[in-house]
Amino acid sequence: MSIKNLYGIIGQPLSHSLSPAMHNAAFKALQMDAEYHLFPLKESELEAFFASLKKKDNRIRGFNVTVPYKEVVLKYMDLLSPFAQKVKAINTVTVAADGRLEGFNTDGPGFLTHLTELKIKTQHQRISLLGAGGTARSILAVLCLLPERPETILIYNRHYEKALELIRDLGLRMDASCLEAVKSVDSLNVELADLLINTTSVGLKAEDPCLIKEESFHSNLWVYDVIYNPFETKLLALAKSKGARTVNGLGMLFYQGVLAFQHWTKVQLDIDVKTLMWESLAESLEKKNDA
Ligand code: ATR
Repeated sequence: MSIKNLYGIIGQPLSHSLSPAMHNAAFKALQMDAEYHLFPLKESELEAFFASLKKKDNRIRGFNVTVPYKEVVLKYMDLLSPFAQKVKAINTVTVAADGRLEGFNTDGPGFLTHLTELKIKTQHQRISLLGAGGTARSILAVLCLLPERPETILIYNRHYEKALELIRDLGLRMDASCLEAVKSVDSLNVELADLLINTTSVGLKAEDPCLIKEESFHSNLWVYDVIYNPFETKLLALAKSKGARTVNGLGMLFYQGVLAFQHWTKVQLDIDVKTLMWESLAESLEKKNDA
């Protein structure tokens, strides 16, 4: 017998994705007739994919969107959540019975939930951030929209103009006055920062350098690297060796997934199911590394 409801993730490449393990564990625990699949799609296949969601026999009820489609898929949405409208990037889509698509961004809220769990303060704090891509966009938006905002967020990106453009764009829809682009890593003032966030892909490869000078780290600093594989990047290892507190982005991945699941199924996940999802995520990461 075929599965009633399908969920999944669109993007390219997807072989690294840990999301199936997390979501399928939840479906199983809740005894839901549903499965989470990988839907690797080329850009030229997007049109047909979105057209198929409108057909009567469509069984896909929701999906995640990952790199490189978080912005291009906006045009297919019938509705955007208020936060997604502000970020202009989505990672979660719900498909209603009549085929209507609603886009959400759970990356920003997922990041914030993880910070809250770790009791990492952002109010009136000095934050330094590396990167100006899609992940930076979601994180910066959620921080700018907090009622009690950070004091400053200095942003360094390899391409300075892109950081300027990101700030300008977010500023069209929110108060982005705490954001400032800097032209060099040294101007990030990590020495004076309370929180350093890495959203770049630097650190994914073993040979990648640490973008921050060793002497900049200090014991009053939290370092958050969105990368979770490797589990400890050079940035985190070096920061830790200098007394900073460090954390990787597995928690952000987890919470964006929890929030996405809740949008799709309207089920409020309890602590037991969340624990199971977390364990499945960690196990899946281990398996990928052993393979
Ligand atoms: P994501 O959605 O994960 O944020 P992205 O939008 O492709 O992915 O963004 C990748 C980020 O990593 C960008 O900030 C990119 O810098 P540029 O905008 O200058 O390209 C950054 N990045 C990737 N490779 C890098 C490298 N070798 N050195 C510095 N930054 C790098």
